[in-house]
Amino acid sequence: MTGWTLADVPDLTGRRALVTGVTSGLGEVTARELARAGAEVVLAARNREKLAGTAQSLRSEVPGARLVELQLDLADLSSVRRAAAAAAELGALDILVNNAGVMATPEERTRDGFELQLGTNHLGHFALTGLLLEPLAASGDARVVTVSSLMARTVRGMSLEDPRNPSGRYRKWNAYGQSKLANLLFTFELDRRARGAGLPVTAVAAHPGYTETNLVDNGMNMGRRTINGAIGVAVTSLVGQSVAQGATPQIRAAVEPGLAGGTYVGPQGPFEMHGAPGYVTPPRPARDPELAARLWELSERATGVSFP
Ligand SMILES: NC(=O)c1ccc[n+]([C@@H]2O[C@H](COP(=O)([O-])OP(=O)(O)OC[C@H]3O[C@@H](n4cnc5c(N)ncnc54)[C@H](OP(=O)(O)O)[C@@H]3O)[C@@H](O)[C@H]2O)c1
Repeated sequence: MTGWTLADVPDLTGRRALVTGVTSGLGEVTARELARAGAEVVLAARNREKLAGTAQSLRSEVPGARLVELQLDLADLSSVRRAAAAAAELGALDILVNNAGVMATPEERTRDGFELQLGTNHLGHFALTGLLLEPLAASGDARVVTVSSLMARTVRGMSLEDPRNPSGRYRKWNAYGQSKLANLLFTFELDRRARGAGLPVTAVAAHPGYTETNLVDNGMNMGRRTINGAIGVAVTSLVGQSVAQGATPQIRAAVEPGLAGGTYVGPQGPFEMHGAPGYVTPPRPARDPELAARLWELSERATGVSFP
């Protein structure tokens, strides 16, 4: 494998990072590599027991790792508010990795009544980022990385309906694709707004191609066994790249010095499915500033969090 590798991660001593969804897959590897490079890592996860288990295994993999455990359920805005307040008490935040996500779930709602995938993948992270803007700005040079997906390319646009009251038949893959398009629209709008407000915060995005994680099992199966879910798990284990490789785009996006705001990092192999991380082109709807501004307003109204 040529190109950017984990050996290119710079020394992060003295820096603080927060990673969401650290209990498995890409989030766990991202947290581990940031800790290995010397950053203090705030491990954010919804399940306390899993979180404690992850912290324990990271401590054994990275002796001396500086870790803080933070309970965060992105599908519950009151949890997002509590977690952001606790994280803000730690002081300046240099790196925020909005990684957690669910995919192709059966139709469900968040605690606040949002469609689950948009609510978790976009609205939860939108609120978290807004509530952390002060500690991010206090860093003097902060980076916000939001993890999107190739699936953002499969949708033509974004529904701007009330996420508490979506109309029409629920289509789980469409809902996932829209939530991942929302991750990109959010990134580019955040970057524009931060620059406009003179804030030292750079927003970038990344996607992991096709990576073998628990995402299919967590989402499509949600603890139940389904035939489609079993097929999904089998296909992922056959063609997906390793988690260590799949995490490299978001790690590069988080740590590469001087990365320009609005950069999108993804695998450079065929169809961006696997390979070393490089700069990739976002799908056309993600580059529509008017759509991004409208999604931003909707997200502010839905979450009650306004920024910058
Ligand atoms: N794997 C791929 O090929 C692929 C492709 C494109 C994009 N992605 C994106 O990569 C990101 C990471 O996914 P992954 O592949 O690493 O999947 P994963 O192994 O299923 O990890 C997802 C993480 O998100 C957490 N999470 C889910 N709902 C949450 C909530 N309400 N609050 C807080 N945390 C929550 C999970 O926690 P629990 O352990 O408690 O469930 C888990 O830690 C996601 O944003 C996904 O959309 C992955």
